[in-house]
Amino acid sequence: MRGLLGDIHRPVLVAEVLDNLRFVSEGGIFVDATLGFGGHAIAVLEHFPNSTVVGIEIDDETISLCRKRLAPYGDRCRAIRGTYGDLGDLLSLAGIAAVDTILMDTGVSSFDIDTPERGFSFSLDGPLDMRYRQEFGLETAEAIINHENASYLRRIMRDYGEVPFAGRIASAICSRRVNSPIATTLQLVEVVRRAVGGRIGRMKLEGLLAQVFQAFRVAVNRELEVLEAGLRQGIDHLESGGRLLVICYESLSHNLTKRVFREYERGCICPKEVPVCVCGRSPKARILTRRAISPSAAEIADNIRSRSAGMRIIERL
Ligand SMILES: C[S@@+](CC[C@H](N)C(=O)[O-])C[C@H]1O[C@@H](n2cnc3c(N)ncnc32)[C@H](O)[C@@H]1O
Repeated sequence: MRGLLGDIHRPVLVAEVLDNLRFVSEGGIFVDATLGFGGHAIAVLEHFPNSTVVGIEIDDETISLCRKRLAPYGDRCRAIRGTYGDLGDLLSLAGIAAVDTILMDTGVSSFDIDTPERGFSFSLDGPLDMRYRQEFGLETAEAIINHENASYLRRIMRDYGEVPFAGRIASAICSRRVNSPIATTLQLVEVVRRAVGGRIGRMKLEGLLAQVFQAFRVAVNRELEVLEAGLRQGIDHLESGGRLLVICYESLSHNLTKRVFREYERGCICPKEVPVCVCGRSPKARILTRRAISPSAAEIADNIRSRSAGMRIIERL
């Protein structure tokens, strides 16, 4: 095992999470839907001695390391292996009807980024895998990159990574794979580098690579689809007065979260052209953050990976 568990992923916005979570019932339940190495979960267990924490984590290795870390908290904490896309079913299976606070800290852990075999990093060589969990029947990034046509690859990069030069990079991928499959992260990096040539500087190339890798990761794991399901099931399973806290790191998940939050706040889903509501739906929740809560300058100075984090909160009526 590399390093101490506490070092392999530093939780972000911990003080802000503790300040904003709510226990509306006696012995309330906090669900950490992206348990990771338990950084947020442990902060909650320590800060709220009467709380119970239910953690959900998709990754096998991560959850087994985390279970060891949570062992001292005994019955106060349960770690469930699964995806927050199935949040409703996982809570039902655990015999839980409604909860007080749910945290979703979307994105990749530092541990995954720094593990070359996962294929998430554009600076470490490894297979182009990028799946959070292997047995879901998901295609690897390698399968997508070597088998999909140029227009599909362009769409993935444009829609999931807002990648500039997406068309040019997609064509370069298709030309390169004629000789032999693009099998590793650094081979993909080389294709992107050659495709954009001298058009951008080194710093900008790093940003572009981050966007390309993000796009394929989102596509491989169907992240936006899963996030939308998780947001809806999360809000639906809150107690009245309970809160959903969502930490996002890029604009696609921020925009999706904002859209779903607004829908729950508005209630009515009638098209704009319909003058009088016919759907009969009423607001179910209240948005508490018009703008995302960002990490302090001190936190960013201490943990550079926190710099793109932003937290949005909605409260169930
Ligand atoms: C940014 S990390 C969260 C870190 C955690 N809050 C901590 O303090 O250690 C995101 C975690 O969510 C997990 N994850 C990604 N997609 C998931 C999903 N659909 N369902 C559950 N967990 C997921 C990742 O494996 C990763 O461990």
